[in-house]
Amino acid sequence: MKKRIVANWKMHGSRRMAEPLVLKIAHLLHTLPTDTCPHVVICPPAPYLSLVGGLLSGSLAALGAQDCHAKAEGAHTGDVSASMLHELGCAYVIVGHSERRAEHAETGPQVRAKAEAAMAAGLIPIICIGESLEAREAGQAEAVVARQLEEALPRGQGGQFVLAYEPIWAIGTGRTPTSADIAQMHRHIQGIAGMHVPVLYGGSVKAANAREILALDGVGGALVGGASLSAEEFGAIIEAATRSAVEPGGA
Ligand code: PGA
Repeated sequence: MKKRIVANWKMHGSRRMAEPLVLKIAHLLHTLPTDTCPHVVICPPAPYLSLVGGLLSGSLAALGAQDCHAKAEGAHTGDVSASMLHELGCAYVIVGHSERRAEHAETGPQVRAKAEAAMAAGLIPIICIGESLEAREAGQAEAVVARQLEEALPRGQGGQFVLAYEPIWAIGTGRTPTSADIAQMHRHIQGIAGMHVPVLYGGSVKAANAREILALDGVGGALVGGASLSAEEFGAIIEAATRSAVEPGGA
């Protein structure tokens, strides 16, 4: 199956930075073999969605947002709805990122409501889950992730969603779990969510480790923060995903 490589710019970037970065990625995608090249999604901050959407038009990459509100409309100052994002050309939206859970006190049921709102609006939610360092060290990582899934998995049949396993202690730290731990957690997640659900890995993915991580069983792609702000780094991750689709065990 084709991998998904998702750029999460977080609250980084500017108009000046966006244009060369996005154009380089769009150009790279045209040079890769279409049957193995991954699905690439770029999630800039909300003010740059229109700009990046315009730059991506006619390219093979999709546009995504970093959050949406659970309600279709209403008195929610500062928020945006899933249908507004859809209207702007988004195909994906990240929900439940650990930074939003921590900084905006988002709960599991709220994350589910956002994911369901996204699907109702025609977007594919990328639902983030992942344990803290304390939970990992206490041997509770799988239990924490199981509870997060129980709370946040969309209900009802049909509709497409993607999961992203992002151990909190690996985000922006340069630390990653061992390959065995990543593969084990992805098995655990697919055992709960279903084998058909793509599970991305996120947390300090960079050019130097992408190949090994993307080749692991059950890893459907990567959610990339810091390294997605560099065309060279992000491009190398896309190339690693292209290669892993043709290497044994990587498809
Ligand atoms: P990172 O962030 O790649 O900078 O660790 C990943 C994420 O938070 O999505």
